[in-house]
Amino acid sequence: MKLEKVQKMIDDMIRVMRRALGVGLAAPHIGIPLRIIVLEDKKQYMTYKQEEELKAQDRRPFDLLVILNPKLKYNTNRTALFFEGCLSVAGYCVVVERYLDVEVAGFDRYGEPLKINATCWQARILQHACDHLDGTLYVDKMVPRTFRALENMYNPLAHGCPKLGPR
Ligand SMILES: *[C@@H]1O[C@H](CO)[C@@H](O)[C@H](O)[C@H]1NC(C)=O
Ligand SMILES: *[C@@H]1O[C@H](CO)[C@@H](O)[C@H](O)[C@H]1NC(C)=O
Repeated sequence: MKLEKVQKMIDDMIRVMRRALGVGLAAPHIGIPLRIIVLEDKKQYMTYKQEEELKAQDRRPFDLLVILNPKLKYNTNRTALFFEGCLSVAGYCVVVERYLDVEVAGFDRYGEPLKINATCWQARILQHACDHLDGTLYVDKMVPRTFRALENMYNPLAHGCPKLGPR
């Protein structure tokens, strides 16, 4: 993990994520076949979001996290449905049901073990990013008939779709 080559890949991932104004990136996004994810959320990314939705998602800024070989443990008690985007499918969004509480274990970029409990928005990013490591995209988990262009995100859902928010 401490190899210069790996450190450089991680720096590349962070740069690509920030340039795309993304909140998470998995190594396979940019063609690296390793189990590495980076995530970060900043206040300035949230300006386009509606206040209500930020609150509902409990979306708050958090510092850069680099996790190698992440393993997720889900608490299946609570889930929530929200729209999410994906840097591999730019310009679109879908509704995905995700667990609200996860524990992630892995290693930081220097090879030190790391274990974190994440909730809500951060838990969603972790689940989305870790899915990429297994070749799973949000379209594999989406609520049917919710795929839409980002600018249509706030249009009503198709008839019969479950309501957004916690379940
Ligand atoms: C899930 O909910 C059940 C029933 O309320 C509770 O007993 C259990 O401790 C919860 N599990 C976790 C991991 O929070
Ligand atoms: C995460 O939460 C669970 C359940 O509350 C707890 O058992 C565990 O020790 C926590 N892990 C960390 C890393 O804080």
